[in-house]
Amino acid sequence: MKTAVITGGAGFIGSHVAERFLAEGWDVHVLDNLITGKRGNVPPGAVFHQLDIRDGLAADLIAGLQPAVLVHLAAQMDVRKSVAEPVFDADTNIVGSLNLFEAVRNDSPKTRIVFSSTGGAIYGDQTTPPNVETFAKNPESPYAVSKLAVENYLAYYGRVHGLESAVLRFGNVYGPRQDPHGEAGVVAIFCGRILDKQPLTVFGDGMQTRDYVYVSDVVDMTYRAATRTLPPAQLLDSRAFNVGTGIATDVMRLATVLMEAGKTTIPITHAPERPGEQRTSFLDVKKAMNYLEWKPVVSLEDGLTRSFEWFAARHRADSKQPAGGKA
Ligand SMILES: NC(=O)c1ccc[n+]([C@@H]2O[C@H](COP(=O)([O-])OP(=O)(O)OC[C@H]3O[C@@H](n4cnc5c(N)ncnc54)[C@H](O)[C@@H]3O)[C@@H](O)[C@H]2O)c1
Repeated sequence: MKTAVITGGAGFIGSHVAERFLAEGWDVHVLDNLITGKRGNVPPGAVFHQLDIRDGLAADLIAGLQPAVLVHLAAQMDVRKSVAEPVFDADTNIVGSLNLFEAVRNDSPKTRIVFSSTGGAIYGDQTTPPNVETFAKNPESPYAVSKLAVENYLAYYGRVHGLESAVLRFGNVYGPRQDPHGEAGVVAIFCGRILDKQPLTVFGDGMQTRDYVYVSDVVDMTYRAATRTLPPAQLLDSRAFNVGTGIATDVMRLATVLMEAGKTTIPITHAPERPGEQRTSFLDVKKAMNYLEWKPVVSLEDGLTRSFEWFAARHRADSKQPAGGKA
């Protein structure tokens, strides 16, 4: 049985990735410090290690298991927190990643690393979307800077030490178990407001666009990147793949589809535009389609309806709990 270590496996995307590896018959180890993740998200069948990726014990775990695959998803992923605390962001996202990569280099050099980067934040606002992997990178937050730094480290580890890696630049990932602080946090926030029958707040005119991709499509791409033959590793972008839908969706459309899913209408209030917020962002995903025969298959309507239903079920369960007993 092949072994996969999944960092961040108690989080949103990681828990879905762990489920997929288990379903494919892998021995799955989840490494997570539960700073935002939840123990209950770790699927039954996975071995859980409550560890920080910066900890020497996390490096020891990689050395001991010598996994075929390390899916590295654990991160400080709140863009606003990265602006407020860039040192914490870099410590987690850069130093933590290096701790794991050094363990791979020294003790498990055959491990393939699959790293979660960001297609939503790394290209900045200087490009004309759809953004292609080779476009200039102009990260506009410490979070995006840290992701790009790790991508550069992986390119270096590939060139100099021959380590195997793939970089996945996710769009705005949404779905069950997502966190309101993530890049697609608006989906979780709107679902919560609709279920509480509270007005939705939209910044600016709501016509700012992002590439929203459903979590099962992201999981499928992650599995392909972990198991398929990859293009030759050379430069920064050689092994990088955008993971999105190639479709720009504006915030007003999200609100409309989610209200349809909830079979209700909620008033929308407009707040001032947020300074520095990107106006348009969506991804060219042809490289993933060509090299890894991947295709996003879940439509926005279907994905948002599935997400809403999950939040609605959680809302019903929460409202049945006695006061103070909410998780
Ligand atoms: N959600 C998105 O839209 C999106 C978009 C682009 C990139 N990404 C990236 O995908 C990855 C997963 O994101 P997510 O949305 O599932 O986030 P998440 O917060 O749900 O998951 C991250 C997990 O990492 C864990 N973690 C954080 N710091 C840790 C540390 N120091 N040691 C061990 N574990 C730690 C958290 O407890 C959490 O379980 C992240 O790297 C994120 O930057 C996400």
